[in-house]
Amino acid sequence: MELKGKTALITGASKGLGKEIALRFASEGCNLILNSRGKDSLERVAEECKRMCIFCETFAGDITENRTIDSLSEISKRKGLDILFNNAGMIIIQPSEKNTDKEMRDIFALNVLAHINLTQKLIPLLKERGEAQIVNIISNSGLEGRPNMSLYCSTKFALRGYTDSLRKEVNKHGIKVLGVYPGGIRTNLFDEIKDYNMSGFMDPKEVAQIIVDACKLSKGASVDDIVVNRTNK
Ligand SMILES: NC(=O)c1ccc[n+]([C@@H]2O[C@H](COP(=O)([O-])OP(=O)(O)OC[C@H]3O[C@@H](n4cnc5c(N)ncnc54)[C@H](OP(=O)(O)O)[C@@H]3O)[C@@H](O)[C@H]2O)c1
Repeated sequence: MELKGKTALITGASKGLGKEIALRFASEGCNLILNSRGKDSLERVAEECKRMCIFCETFAGDITENRTIDSLSEISKRKGLDILFNNAGMIIIQPSEKNTDKEMRDIFALNVLAHINLTQKLIPLLKERGEAQIVNIISNSGLEGRPNMSLYCSTKFALRGYTDSLRKEVNKHGIKVLGVYPGGIRTNLFDEIKDYNMSGFMDPKEVAQIIVDACKLSKGASVDDIVVNRTNK
């Protein structure tokens, strides 16, 4: 897809991988609709993007809440939408017997249900375009289980199932569905985990570049899955 002049909606765009993807899309001349909960950090990213693209709208809100999904859908209808980036996410790292009921609900609400909810609302818009792209940021934790990450891995396996099924459903409408499975990336994801060792983690800029390049393929070619691993595991 030629990215210049297209419009992409990115959730979790204020930090980490989402921020780098937003900046790369903007540098390709792609217009943006950006979301995260924190307004100030989101506006800072939008200011940078606006120097490179025609418009960059922001909506600060929690995507586990229906009113945020409704607002993002309304903006997308008004602006048009070519690319949906389901990126926002959280992690919990602890022995499985410590997982509380609230933690279970919160992580599934964000890492799985919010993405499905937003995608379902936007599929009709994407179908209208004739050529569109959905990108789901999963994780290599959606490919294999890990100790102390049972909840995180469960959500990523669930999103993988949704991604693979959706692709088979919407490809015929000109919508490509890309599942992205990165290993450790140096982002803010681990901020709340005490003394988490991120040495050897990948640069989010490099991972973002690979994803944006995949979106640039012509209508006749599709990358279905991207696995990006760090070399020094
Ligand atoms: N970092 C890694 O090693 C790694 C590896 C594989 C996959 N991933 C995946 O990559 C994706 C991006 O993570 P990241 O590593 O870039 O983490 P990050 O730096 O923590 O960024 C997460 C983004 O999501 C936003 N967010 C969090 N909760 C939200 C909510 N309820 N509603 C709306 N926005 C919300 C955050 O902003 P606010 O806090 O302001 O809302 C932030 O912009 C996640 O799906 C993660 O699972 C990360």
